[in-house]
Amino acid sequence: MTRISITVDGVGYDDDVEPRTLLVHHLRERLGKIGTVVGCDTSNCGACTVLMTDADGELVAVKSCAVLAVQADGRQVTTIEGLAGPDHTLHPVQQAFHERHALQCGYCTPGMIMAAVDLLTENPDPSDAEIREGLEGNLCRCTGYQNIVRAVRDAADALHAAGRSAAPAPPTVEAGAAGTPDAGLPREPVPGEAIPQPVP
Ligand code: FES
Ligand code: FES
Repeated sequence: MTRISITVDGVGYDDDVEPRTLLVHHLRERLGKIGTVVGCDTSNCGACTVLMTDADGELVAVKSCAVLAVQADGRQVTTIEGLAGPDHTLHPVQQAFHERHALQCGYCTPGMIMAAVDLLTENPDPSDAEIREGLEGNLCRCTGYQNIVRAVRDAADALHAAGRSAAPAPPTVEAGAAGTPDAGLPREPVPGEAIPQPVP
């Protein structure tokens, strides 16, 4: 086991993980971040996309099935569950997906939105072709992509009108509320395992 410290959606967690544990499994199964989903486990579909700080401290989109949990040691991770504002106001990309109905089954949506946030952070005014190129690592088998492209275009316009970047605001999470499938309730204990605790 290897000791790691990760900040996820604004809350720090120390935990012991197997070196082979994938970040997506750590997020879902240990921290209860089930908004991040697994579509393929082979880094093809993008459903597991989250934002994670790189070596320079920049938040960038990563496929969390292609990252080991130990590689996230010392990093900050933002999942779809940490994207809304502290008052639960939807991020402009989330709002645009809602208004454009840029989803059907919704399985690709968490990853698609996180990838779109990364795209708009890098390129605040993308053309439709640039949106399609920027999201090419995220697969959707329902929508045909047209409304997704429209939603990202709308989000770019909304962000421009608001004079803000797509980069998510630092989330505010009540201590102990994150990391549990049911916010505020104790996580179901796993025999023989210590539950990761928020770092004070
Ligand atoms: Fe498909 Fe990660 S689960 S890319
Ligand atoms: Fe179903 Fe995208 S909405 S896979």
